[in-house]
Parts: sequence; structure tokens; C-alpha cells
Amino acid sequence: MAESSIEPGMAGDRTGLGVVAGLLSLLAAPVAHAHPAHAKPVNYPFVVGFERFHSGLDDEDYLAEGGFLLLNELNCVACHAPPEALAEQLAGFVATDLAGVASRLAPLEIELLVRNPRFVKRDTVMPSLFAGPDRDLEEVAALRAWLGTLVAEVPDHPVGDIERGRALYHRIGCVACHAPEAGYRPPGVPENAEIEMAGLASVPMNLADLYDLAALTEFLLKPNEHRPSGRMPDFDLDVAEASDLAAYLKAGPDLVLPPNLSEALAAAAPTPDAALVEKGRELFLGKRCHACHAMPGGEDGTLAGPSSKPLAELDPGTAGGCFSERPVGGAVPFYGLDLVQRRALAAALRRLGGREPLDPAREIDWRMKQLNCHACHERDGVGGPETAREVYFGFRDGAALALGRDGHLPPALDGSGATLTPERLAQVLFGNAAEGSGRPHLLVPMPKFRRAVVEPFEKLLPAVDRASFGRPIRPQ
Ligand code: HEC
Ligand code: HEC
Ligand code: HEC
Ligand code: HEC
Repeated sequence: MAESSIEPGMAGDRTGLGVVAGLLSLLAAPVAHAHPAHAKPVNYPFVVGFERFHSGLDDEDYLAEGGFLLLNELNCVACHAPPEALAEQLAGFVATDLAGVASRLAPLEIELLVRNPRFVKRDTVMPSLFAGPDRDLEEVAALRAWLGTLVAEVPDHPVGDIERGRALYHRIGCVACHAPEAGYRPPGVPENAEIEMAGLASVPMNLADLYDLAALTEFLLKPNEHRPSGRMPDFDLDVAEASDLAAYLKAGPDLVLPPNLSEALAAAAPTPDAALVEKGRELFLGKRCHACHAMPGGEDGTLAGPSSKPLAELDPGTAGGCFSERPVGGAVPFYGLDLVQRRALAAALRRLGGREPLDPAREIDWRMKQLNCHACHERDGVGGPETAREVYFGFRDGAALALGRDGHLPPALDGSGATLTPERLAQVLFGNAAEGSGRPHLLVPMPKFRRAVVEPFEKLLPAVDRASFGRPIRPQ
């Protein structure tokens, strides 16, 4: 059990926190399997584009390309600045907006997330900053106290219907990225159709188990606000749909801790007072949480700039720093990278000097992998919905069956930049694809991504597709 080394007991401390640490070491992924629609978690940070396209290949150049994806999707570039020429390509992302975090998560859950996010979500991309041998649990307590004050008003959303939520989840496109529930037959799937197990890895989402029900509904209504990274798109749900989905996604067992652990944690938690809260606020900056999260309540630009060694100065051959298999402590985050990821990252670091800014065709490929457009769209023979997931792309009426795969699957994007008018392309990318669509039979919408992340496609697609007269050209 790798976790036991992350949570060494601290014998002889006065606070009782040592007991907690010891008990935590006995817990292996407490919630990971809770919900039937949860993917089997992996024991390393999950990045979907890397997993699908780059992790299985031994070709060093291809692996390095995946490594570049990881440098961005694990936000290494938030602390290690990329070379100037690659700044746009390796822009990283802004992590979850923490304003309102205390309305989503209970104090204990916040505490566990800060101590070691991997306990709560084993395959999360948020690294641990308190897993090292020197970790200071009083600092965790202060952060918990401050984060605990970050409440937001959550509308009193209705309690949804689990069965309706289950049906919706398996029909409108969630399963393009997230896991289907094993054994579930979506409504409308013909009797004779066989349901196969999905083979490609699914995007984990088990924080849904922990979120307060109304807050989860709120998140599903406004994912682009909660997650500025723009990786989880907006399906333009109405309140009833979002409540049904939330009811379904929360139908798994709650986070269950052994009673002795809950008691120990409760006993160890100091009563938050103003001084502790203030200490927590300062620590958020001191620990550089704001390398990835905007300072809640702060003005724009409150993200810390990179403050560690620039990427170009990192030693690709090292087994230390953020590559370490064990938490190092201090300011060094612990990601729990696996061997393939470490190899890919090292290969990318070795090629950093020679890397050119991407030409438009490769940039499309790069962005489609980042945002997982490929979960729904094929382009140039790359990606597209996995065959086993096609049954989860619903259609509106039986007539669509006559259209074959076009009757329920999103279109391939080959040549889209040439065939669509600029007006139509903008309409599709910025949130009105259904209006005037020639595909009224599709139940899966083109979801709304955060404007900033899809904006580049507005120029890139026409630039590439018009130049090739509609004939697709392969990237790389
Ligand atoms: C929150 C900030 C932060 C993030 C995010 C981060 N690092 Fe680091 N990293 C550090 C600090 C601090 C050190 C210690 C050395 C220093 O100060 O530069 C370090 C050290 C390293 C080292 C060892 C330095 C050397 O050359 O010996 C490597 C390699 C490294 N990081 C790679 C990565 C990779 C790859 C990622 C993304 C998976 C990453 N880091 C994400 C802060 C960060
Ligand atoms: C294009 C891929 C994609 C689609 C389609 C998608 N999601 Fe997500 N979803 C993600 C990603 C990526 C994340 C993680 C974002 C992050 O790391 O902040 C996420 C996060 C979540 C979370 C937060 C839980 C957690 O552990 O982070 C929930 C809940 C969720 N999705 C539900 C849904 C539902 C319901 C649907 C369908 C209406 C859906 N998703 C469709 C990609 C997708
Ligand atoms: C390298 C970037 C990075 C750093 C540094 C970082 N975080 Fe995170 N954090 C994330 C990401 C990404 C998520 C979303 C994780 C997911 O859904 O799997 C997240 C999620 C969270 C959440 C859950 C919020 C919610 O409502 O779902 C909390 C709480 C949190 N971080 C607190 C912190 C604190 C406190 C620090 C500093 C000690 C910190 N983070 C440092 C990237 C980071
Ligand atoms: C959940 C599935 C899904 C995801 C993820 C998705 N799309 Fe779509 N997309 C669709 C559907 C469905 C349509 C068809 C809309 C219509 O015509 O009514 C579409 C249409 C399009 C079109 C117009 C194609 C044409 O020829 O009419 C473009 C361009 C497009 N999407 C780009 C993207 C990009 C870029 C991304 C990633 C940022 C993306 N899509 C992610 C489902 C998806």
C-alpha cells in the first residue's frame, strides 16, 4: 500500500493528530468505488488526452508529445515557467474556483482534500502539498478554518429524481467522457443491441459523492464558472435536469470513515477563531495554492506567477522534486506520477529547447486532446466516440435509426472549417449549435465550453481546412 508511506503516524504528538494520521494510513481510497457510474480509479493523476492517445505507445516522440500535454494538464507550468516561445502553448489552467467551497464540502472533507487530495479522489490532478514528512497539521487546520468561511449562497434547488437522472446521464453525452454504469441499459436502446463494457478510461468525477446536493446541482448548471479550466463543459441543463442528474450522481454511499477516525478528526479540530482563519488566509498565499487557484474574493490577476525553476532548467533525469515517488515535503508538491507519466514528462523536458510553436493543424489536434473534443468528434482519423459508448448517444425518434451512425453520433470534424460559414462556426462554438441545426434528431448537444478555451478554433479550423480545399490533412 503506497499510501502508508504518505501518511506516517506521528508518534507522541499532543494534539491527537498522530492518531488521525495513523488511521488515515489504513484507508485505501475510501470513496473511490462508491457510485456505480464511477470509473475504476487509477493510482496516478488522470489526464484523459494522455491516457487515450499517448500512454500506450512506446515511440519516444509520441510519448514526448503526451509529456507536453501533461506539463499543461497537470499545471506544472503554474510553478515552472515555460520558455517564452511556448508560453501560449503551455498556458496551463486556472483550477476550481474556491469561492463557495464551504457550501459544497463539509469541513472534514475540506480537511482531507487539503491534507492529501488523493485520499478523497485517488486519481485527482491536484497535487498534495501536505503529504511530506515535514507536513504541519496545524497549517492544515488553519487552511481548513479559512476555507470553511468561504460560503456562497446556493439556491434551494428541488430534490431531483434518481431514475430520471440515471436515464439522462446515459443519453445526453455525459458518458462520452465519464463512465457508464455497468449493467445499465439506456432507454431506447433496441432489445437486440448488446451493451459492451467501455474499454477506454473514463474521466473521474467522484467529488460528486461529497458535494452537497444543492451545490452539486448548482455546479452542473454552471460548470464553467466553478471550473475556470473549462475542461468540464456546460450542457445548458434546466434546473429539473440538473437536479435529476445531481440526485443520481449522489445516490452512492457517502464518504464513510471508520468511527474512530471521525472522532479523532473531530477531537483534533481546533475551534476556528479569527486568528486561525487569518493564518489560513495567509497560508493560502504562503503555500502558493494561488499558483493554481485564484485567491477567492481577490481581484483578477491574483494568481501567483511561476516561482520555481523554469521548465528549461529542470533536470529531466532526476528522480527528485516533483518526479519523486515519495512526498518530498517543503514547497514541493506530490503528484504520485506513474512510470509512464514520468518517462513522458522527462522526454518532453528533453525536447523543450527544440520545440517550435505549433502550426495550425497540430494546434487543433493539441487543443482537441486537451479539451477532449475527441470524446465526441473524430478528425483526420483520430478520436471519435468509442464503439462501446455509441449506445449512450441518444436520438430523439425512431426515424433517426434510418440515418445509421449519423442518426445519433456527433459529426466528424473533417473539413468543418471549410464547410461551415464563419457565422455558423461561431454559433456552434459559442453556444447555439442546436439553433438552426440540421441535426434535430441528436439528443447529445454540442456542449458549451468556456469561451476562452474554444475561441482559438474559430480561426484555426478555417485556416487549416480552407487551405486543404476540404481535404483533411493529417497532423504530424
Ligand atoms: C505548486 C508549485 C509546483 C508545481 C505545480 C510543480 N512543481 Fe515541480 N517543483 C516545485 C518546487 C518548489 C520544487 C523544488 C525546487 C525549486 O524550488 O525549483 C520543484 C522541483 C521540481 C523538479 C526537480 C528540480 C530539479 O531539476 O532537480 C522537477 C523535475 C519538477 N519540479 C518537475 C515538475 C513537474 C513535471 C510538474 C508537473 C507534473 C511540477 N514540477 C509541478 C514546485 C512545483
Ligand atoms: C468533454 C468531456 C466531459 C463531458 C462530456 C462531461 N464532463 Fe463532467 N467533467 C469533465 C472533466 C474533465 C472534469 C474534471 C474537471 C476538473 O478537473 O476540474 C469533470 C468533472 C465533473 C464533475 C465534478 C466532480 C469531480 O470529481 O471533479 C461532475 C459532477 C461531472 N463532471 C458531471 C458531468 C455530467 C453530469 C455530465 C453530463 C451532463 C458531464 N459531466 C459531461 C469532462 C466532461
Ligand atoms: C498544481 C495546481 C494546484 C495547486 C498548487 C493546488 N490545487 Fe487545489 N485543486 C487543483 C485542481 C486541478 C483541483 C480540482 C481537482 C479535481 O476535481 O479532481 C483542485 C481542487 C481543490 C479543492 C476542492 C474544491 C472543490 O470545491 O471541488 C480544494 C479545497 C483545494 N483544491 C484546495 C487547495 C489548497 C488549500 C491548496 C494549497 C495548499 C491547493 N488547493 C493547491 C489544483 C491545485
Ligand atoms: C458531448 C459531445 C461533444 C463534445 C465533447 C464536443 N462536441 Fe462539438 N458537436 C457535438 C454535437 C452533437 C454537434 C452537432 C451539433 C448540431 O449540428 O446540432 C457538434 C458540432 C460541432 C461542430 C460543427 C460540425 C459540423 O460540421 O456541423 C464543431 C466545429 C464542433 N462541434 C467543435 C467542437 C470542439 C472544438 C469541441 C471541443 C472543444 C467539441 N466540439 C466538443 C458534440 C460534442
